[in-house]
Amino acid sequence: MTLNAAPTDLTGKICIVTGANGGIGASAAEHFAALGAKVFATDIGPDFTGSAEVTYQPFDLLDPDGLNACVDWINASAPNVLFNNAALFDMGTVLDADLAQYDRLFGLNVRAFYAVMQAAAQSMVDTETQGSIINLASQAGHRGEALVAHYCASKAAVISYTQSAALALAPHKIRVNAISPGVIDTPMWKTVDGLFAKYEGKEPGQKKREVGEAVPLGYMGDPADVARTAVFLASDQSSYITAQTLCVDGGNVLR
Ligand SMILES: NC(=O)c1ccc[n+]([C@@H]2O[C@H](COP(=O)([O-])OP(=O)(O)OC[C@H]3O[C@@H](n4cnc5c(N)ncnc54)[C@H](O)[C@@H]3O)[C@@H](O)[C@H]2O)c1
Repeated sequence: MTLNAAPTDLTGKICIVTGANGGIGASAAEHFAALGAKVFATDIGPDFTGSAEVTYQPFDLLDPDGLNACVDWINASAPNVLFNNAALFDMGTVLDADLAQYDRLFGLNVRAFYAVMQAAAQSMVDTETQGSIINLASQAGHRGEALVAHYCASKAAVISYTQSAALALAPHKIRVNAISPGVIDTPMWKTVDGLFAKYEGKEPGQKKREVGEAVPLGYMGDPADVARTAVFLASDQSSYITAQTLCVDGGNVLR
C-alpha cells in the first residue's frame, strides 16, 4: 500500500484570487501565499490590504474594460489555481428586486464570475496545466429565500456552472469545485445585517447574532474556515474531487 498523505504544500503553484480585499478572499490569498504559492490578487480598490508577498492588480469587474483587462491578466499569469470569489449581496423580494439590482448582482456574481472562470480554464488548457478552479457559491444557492431573490439565483448559477465546467474540463484533468459558505464573519455582513434590519425591522447587529446562534455548531464561521477548504481544493490532496460543492457552514445545509 502506498501512503500518499504529504502535508499540504502549494509551492510552485500560481494562484489567482478575486475579491482579495474582502474577508474570505484576503484569507485565501494569505493562506495560499503562506503555503508557498505565488499569488496574484485582484479587487476593485487601488491597493491590496494584505501581505506584501502577494502581487496585486485592481480591476472593476463590472466595467467591461476592467473585465477584459482582467481576462488578459489571467492569461498572462498562467494560473494553476483560481479562487473565483468576488461578489455582491443585495436584498429584495420578487416584487421589489428590480432589474437594476439584477444587472449589478448578475453582472458581477454570474457574468464576471463566468468570464474569469473561462479565462482561467482556457489558460490551463493552453498551457496543459492540470489546475484547480474554486468558485464561491453560497448556502443561498441551494434554496431560494423570500427576501433574497437575485442573490440566491446568482449563487445557484455558480453551482450549475461549476458542474458544467467540471464535466467539460475533466478530459483536461482540470478540476472545478465550488465552496458554499454559510454565515461567515466578513465585511459583507455589515451590508447583510443592515439590509435585514431594514426589511425585518431588526436592531443593528440583531440578525448577525441570530444567524450565528442558529448554526448547528452555534457560531458564525471565520474567513479562515473557508480559506482552509480552499487550500484543500487547491492542493493535490483533493486530486480526485471535481464537480462538487462543499458546504462550509457549520451544518446549516444538509444535502
Ligand atoms: N460572508 C458570508 O457569510 C458569505 C456567505 C456565503 C457566500 N459568500 C460568498 O463568499 C465570497 C466572499 O464573500 P465575503 O463575505 O468575503 O465578501 P466581501 O464583501 O468581504 O468581499 C467581496 C469582495 O468583492 C469585491 N468586489 C465588489 N465589487 C467588485 C467589482 N465590481 N469588481 C471587483 N471586485 C469587486 C469587494 O471589493 C470585496 O472586497 C462571495 O462570493 C460571497 O458571495 C459569503
